[in-house]
Amino acid sequence: MDYANIKTRKYDLGEDILALGAKAKKAKLEANETINATIGAMMDDVGQLYEFKSISNVFGRIDNKTYRAYPSIDGGPVFKDAIKRFVFQNQLKLVEDNFESMVCATPGASGALYLVLSNYVTDGDMVLLPHIHWSNYKEMIKSVGATYQTYQMFKENEFNLDDFKQKATMIAEITKKLVVILNDPAHNPTGYSLSKKEFKTIIQTLDDLSLKVPVILIYDVAYIDYFGKTMEESREKFAILETIKSNMITAIAFSGSKTFGLYGFRLGALIGLSRSKHLIDEMSRITTFKARATWSCSPATGISIMNHLMNHELDYEDYLNELSYVKETLNKRGTEFVKIALMSELSIYPYKDGFFVTIPVENPVEIYEDLANQHVFVIPLDKAIRVAISSICEKEIPRLVQALKNSIEKIDSYNE
Ligand SMILES: Cc1ncc(COP(=O)(O)O)c(C=O)c1O
Repeated sequence: MDYANIKTRKYDLGEDILALGAKAKKAKLEANETINATIGAMMDDVGQLYEFKSISNVFGRIDNKTYRAYPSIDGGPVFKDAIKRFVFQNQLKLVEDNFESMVCATPGASGALYLVLSNYVTDGDMVLLPHIHWSNYKEMIKSVGATYQTYQMFKENEFNLDDFKQKATMIAEITKKLVVILNDPAHNPTGYSLSKKEFKTIIQTLDDLSLKVPVILIYDVAYIDYFGKTMEESREKFAILETIKSNMITAIAFSGSKTFGLYGFRLGALIGLSRSKHLIDEMSRITTFKARATWSCSPATGISIMNHLMNHELDYEDYLNELSYVKETLNKRGTEFVKIALMSELSIYPYKDGFFVTIPVENPVEIYEDLANQHVFVIPLDKAIRVAISSICEKEIPRLVQALKNSIEKIDSYNE
């Protein structure tokens, strides 16, 4: 007798990233020399989850009545204003002059991704992803009954615009619709950040296709605050959205997890933009419905933090100063990793910013196991190994690169 329904019966996360992370954590407790490069969270240089003191201070200042009460499903007007000012910064005017917009508070960027996928794709639809991507996209796409198609993300260490265009056009022709997930800047897992020129060409491609079929760009900016030196720089690419002429929808998924180090708070937001008021009204109506029917409302703790931060200038300044320090720490690790990888002739995907560096390999699982035997923990992906530089300290990098180099040489060349 089957109890689970016909669609969910086969669901299985297997050993997903969080499970592998738990294994590495256990190994670290057992042997201190363990390098745990599995965690997609910013750790300090002594291996503790980095705490943004400025954010903890804000949390301490909020009257707990504000988060003991139910928040509005969409986060409420103060949140909607605060999140738009935070996400768009000095591009907000340009965005508001050009687009109709909607906001819905969500449990993390995951909630925002789910709201869009569950409302805009269904059985028979196909979502476009790069060949290397955050693995949870696949589970989300599967859970709404759709499938995905991939394009080769790189050509000679730059974004492969030709393959992107070819696959996007193919999906539009086959399914009469196009839904694309673009994770930028500081792409998980490669650390690639699109140039303005590349982003502009992507937008133009989608805008052209949007004259023929409905196009939805899911723009996952989970790591936006680990890119660029200033808030102005990290938001520069939003100005390119102005070139959109059609009614295509840009659905921005924001994550408070990385930006504020509040992974467990589940703070996030969906911001929808389109030139069509009708499409934005519809988006607001259907995503609020879905949110209510799924998680009811998002945690009020994160909503209250965002509301306070964007309405208390001094607290906000403290946060910006702290963010600069955290970014600098991560940049140092990234620069060091790339330098040593280059010296050791370890070939990596083109890393620019963010939490992860990824190495293309032939036998990821065997390499993962060989490294684990040497007390080095990484994440095996499809034909790649992901190293979370967010979760290691600078002095571990030489040993980590050497171990990677040795295992890859030993296993990949043995299997040739
Ligand atoms: C690319 C990407 N998008 C979205 C998310 C989801 O983040 P959140 O914790 O806000 O749900 C993650 C989390 O690791 C991620 O790596």
